[in-house]
Amino acid sequence: MMIVKPLMRGFISLTSHPVGCEKNVVNQIEYTKKKGLVSGPKKVLVIGASTGFGLASRIVSAFGSNASTIGVFFEKAPAEGKTASPGWYNSAAFQKEAAKAGLYAKSINGDAFSDEIKKKTIDLIKSDLGKVDLVVYSLASPVRTHPKTGVTHRSVLKPIGQVFTDKTVDFHTGKVTTVSIEPCVGDDIENTVAVMGGEDWQMWMEALLEADALSDNAMTVAYSYIGPQLTEAVYRRGTIGKAKDHLEATAFKISDLLKGVSGKAYVSVNKALVTQASSAIPVIPLYISLLYKIMKAEGIHEGCIEQIDRLYRERLYTNESVPTDDKGRIRIDDWEMREDIQARIVELWKQAETENLSEIGDLEGYKSDFFNLFGFGFENVNYADEVNEMVAIDNLV
Ligand code: NAD
Ligand code: NA
Repeated sequence: MMIVKPLMRGFISLTSHPVGCEKNVVNQIEYTKKKGLVSGPKKVLVIGASTGFGLASRIVSAFGSNASTIGVFFEKAPAEGKTASPGWYNSAAFQKEAAKAGLYAKSINGDAFSDEIKKKTIDLIKSDLGKVDLVVYSLASPVRTHPKTGVTHRSVLKPIGQVFTDKTVDFHTGKVTTVSIEPCVGDDIENTVAVMGGEDWQMWMEALLEADALSDNAMTVAYSYIGPQLTEAVYRRGTIGKAKDHLEATAFKISDLLKGVSGKAYVSVNKALVTQASSAIPVIPLYISLLYKIMKAEGIHEGCIEQIDRLYRERLYTNESVPTDDKGRIRIDDWEMREDIQARIVELWKQAETENLSEIGDLEGYKSDFFNLFGFGFENVNYADEVNEMVAIDNLV
């Protein structure tokens, strides 16, 4: 038992609150349940199922469509006096809620990039579910050890060809400064593509197909981001953008592979949101704080659960063909990218400085979302209480 307080190191908290994380999961379950059932997937594999968009995908599959789910993630277990990573507590809460609702759910904690975890997952599908009809691929990682070469690749968030200089905010202090990021060098692009591109997604789908673990008409979806011109040099036209280009191209390759089972692969372009990954990208927090302000004022703000709920109900499972853009991508960043919204961000961006950001931007909303990631800042959680940090995940295989 311990009292858990945030312990900030750089862009993350080293601690997370088990009760707050549970609250976060329960809130998301409530959101999707209130919407009623969608005739969505029935047997789902979520790769990257413990936080962010992947967790929301697991929740909408289970509680929005009564699906059996297998979740794969890479999270730190608790130790006496040391809390687990948030995704651990989220998954413990998910398993608990799924059991209460009588839903099949099992979880695997390990490196999804490895052959070993792929095999373990597919064995579990074969023995418990037979086949899956949806595979959600939602990994976000800074490193990948390649299963064939043994090489460990590290991704970088850098511009290509020129120094990038623009405003950024330290969202803890609210201080707006100018940041310069040196362009990538050497094998930075190849390494970033190796980690965040589509190769591992394709490996998963090949292995599932090989094992006859995909239902007829199975779908798979991976998540991408485009964003505005403001962040283009560092995001979409930077090293990470090259990886996203590769991921998007891989969807077509996988669709070809899945022809035998009449399956299809999609990339969904999602909205910018506060996650552990996005907080570490310079410039993005300032953009998000302006975006949140404007989208909330317009009544069109969404978090992960709202985004994924809309993805299922209004894109993937409508009984009509899945709407895509001219590059075959699903767009649930449509409200973020609305012309009027972006035009206002460009205006506010020019004005943004330390003195006015708390007025023109939603710094409070940013911070609150950030602390929520670690289970902090929830109503009806008494943070002065001692809590049990040694939470186990039920049905962890
Ligand atoms: P996240 O950090 O919240 O989730 C990452 C998940 O991957 C976690 O479940 C983690 O346990 C798992 N993971 C990481 N390394 C792993 C490994 N080696 N083996 C097994 N599991 C591993 O990230 P997120 O923001 O939800 O991102 C998911 C996807 O959505 C990414 O492709 C990201 O680029 C994309 N996306 C994010 C945003 C955004 O603003 N956050 C916007 C659009 C698209
Ligand atoms: Na995720």
